[in-house]
Amino acid sequence: RTEPSDVLVFFGATGDLARKMIFPSLYGMVVADELHVPVVGVAFSQWGIDDLRRRARESVEAAVPEVDEDALERLLGLLRYVDGDYRDAATFDALKESVGDAHRPVHYLAIPPVMFATVVEGLARAGLNRHARVVVEKPFGRDLASAQELDAVVREAFPEESVFRIDHYLGKEEIMNLLYFRFANSFLEPVWNRQHVASVQITIAEDFGVQGRGSFYESAGALRDVLENHMLQIVALLAMEPPAYQGYGAVHEAKANVFRAIRPLTRNDIVRGQFEGYRDEPGVARGSDVETFAAVRLFIDSWRWAGVPWYLRTGKNMPVTAHEVVVEFKKPPQALFDDAMMAQHPNHLRFRLKPDPEIALGARVKTPGEEFVGEQRELVAATGDTAAREPYERLLGDAIQGDRALFTSEDSVEAAWRVVDAILTDHAPAIRYAPGTWGPTEADTLIGADGPWHDPSLRDSNGRK
Ligand code: BG6
Repeated sequence: RTEPSDVLVFFGATGDLARKMIFPSLYGMVVADELHVPVVGVAFSQWGIDDLRRRARESVEAAVPEVDEDALERLLGLLRYVDGDYRDAATFDALKESVGDAHRPVHYLAIPPVMFATVVEGLARAGLNRHARVVVEKPFGRDLASAQELDAVVREAFPEESVFRIDHYLGKEEIMNLLYFRFANSFLEPVWNRQHVASVQITIAEDFGVQGRGSFYESAGALRDVLENHMLQIVALLAMEPPAYQGYGAVHEAKANVFRAIRPLTRNDIVRGQFEGYRDEPGVARGSDVETFAAVRLFIDSWRWAGVPWYLRTGKNMPVTAHEVVVEFKKPPQALFDDAMMAQHPNHLRFRLKPDPEIALGARVKTPGEEFVGEQRELVAATGDTAAREPYERLLGDAIQGDRALFTSEDSVEAAWRVVDAILTDHAPAIRYAPGTWGPTEADTLIGADGPWHDPSLRDSNGRK
């Protein structure tokens, strides 16, 4: 069924995600003339519609430098509001009334995962699941078993083709470019395998802490918050086989096959860290062992990637905010030049996803002079576009239209949980690290001779960031 939805129901309308991301994205959709359906906010905050409009205005004004007042008024005009406890059938009766004549709702669950099942059941009881779609935020479950349980609840009420599991990274321009760059070019394929790739590094570093989200973070940690979803999605896009046919069904299959081929991680494959001061954050347990940093080494047991180590690290309170992939190619078979640097890996492909997106190919170039010595240079293509849309604009628009291309399928979600399931509980205690550093030094031991970790804050030899 591909008819567009005729109302957007938005659970968690008074929450943090709504304030930071969703209202600005809804506004962006109005500006692009892509949002015409009523938006019904639902929350349990003893608010009224005026409070919601005020919140929407504040959040748009905080996010957008020059607000188009007409567009903002149009957005405020689309808003409706229902207040009530999600455990209470009366809340869903009130929602039904508010939805009115619309009969193809899309329900967006921007709420803590522990509430998903309650809301889905409430929707089903009120018949609001009929001809409806549901959009679920990550993390989808807490581990493999709870993801399967949750899926069973969701699937009681919604068929798989009506379930939209959000990983907002998939709506990012730079992430979509990984797929495009790999399969729109021909020079890559011959070297994109274990014969030529020595190792791959992926870093998602953030120079801020948990920013008041302590209680959410306590239930997640870096593994569930970023590594299991955003980072494994990046791995899948880089490692997947060419899709067998045109269309996103093939991409979904190819990605799920990567998750299935990743060797499940064990305690020796991970270093967990926690920044000093985390335990003093509001909502965090005094003795918390939740990790704010994780580094893992993984292997993909496939024909293409057997034996190639992939190193992933993510952390809060790192020296910089930078998301970067570096694919290191093997050294030339012989050192023909008396150039000390030849002992290192001279070639790499670097994808800077954030900030200032770019794709760079690292190579040795001879330094002018008598001797055969060279220097490391990068051929760089800047890919950033300031007009790029916020991922949620694209993804919510797609959900309203019923386009599932940029959402994850249940088999991918389960296969991704399978990769991390054991280390969610079987791991050494988190090691303290000072804010503003790259995490525990044990992460350097993990990467060992395949390192060092690439430092995204270093300028390359071309003098660029
Ligand atoms: C979210 C995590 O999914 O992704 C956050 O919950 C993290 O902890 C964020 O900061 C990073 O996303 P982005 O779009 O800012 O790169």
